[in-house]
Amino acid sequence: MLSLMSTGHETITEWLTWCWVLIGTHPEFEREWQSELEQLGTLAELISLPAEKAPLTHGLLDESLRLYPPTWLFARVPLNEDRLPCGVRVEAGQNLLLCPYLMHRHPESFPDPECFKPLRFHGIRHKEIMGRTYFPFGAGAHRCIGDKLARLETLVVLVTIARACRFKSIRTQPVTPNPGLTLSVSGGWPVRILSRTHSI
Ligand code: HEM
Repeated sequence: MLSLMSTGHETITEWLTWCWVLIGTHPEFEREWQSELEQLGTLAELISLPAEKAPLTHGLLDESLRLYPPTWLFARVPLNEDRLPCGVRVEAGQNLLLCPYLMHRHPESFPDPECFKPLRFHGIRHKEIMGRTYFPFGAGAHRCIGDKLARLETLVVLVTIARACRFKSIRTQPVTPNPGLTLSVSGGWPVRILSRTHSI
């Protein structure tokens, strides 16, 4: 329970917030995504669909984690002296910091890295980069145990809200990330909530 509350709360909150920021700043994507959602049936059906059948929905989840990974930095301490694939030698006990935020913007793996392109994960390149330059949930023996739960929770909340209402940003300053323990939106993402079904 402690792990669930401490590791799975703020991370999912940030993931959802960044999704709304990206939706709010890409109106063309929002229109296309809404028409995908209209064709997808009930939430229960959507959950059981393979990702290829809901490319924009899953693309949004993957691309938001790429641009703004909630766990943007974490550490490793090697037990023994070692050499990294790039040739750099590391000492036993040395602190190594791994930064998904930077690696997710590596132009060799992600052409046009600063751009929001939800369909970039469509196809085989996904497998080539998973756990190498794309690791929002870490990699190896200590990879996140909650990744599937987090994805399911985010998908359910995102789609349920998106079908019921629209968010209109009332923010005037540009969006910048705040690299704390998790990667939050500096100053938050204040919005006006508009119902899709009622004229409120
Ligand atoms: C968006 C949501 C989440 C993100 C981005 C995330 C990210 C990560 C990352 C990067 C690691 C690896 C840390 C490291 O190697 O030092 C990790 C580990 C872990 N995560 Fe998550 N996580 C998320 C959600 C969750 C949820 C929902 C749970 C619990 C149900 C959870 C439980 C854990 C635990 C227990 C570990 C430690 C695993 C180990 O050391 O063997 N996480 N997470």
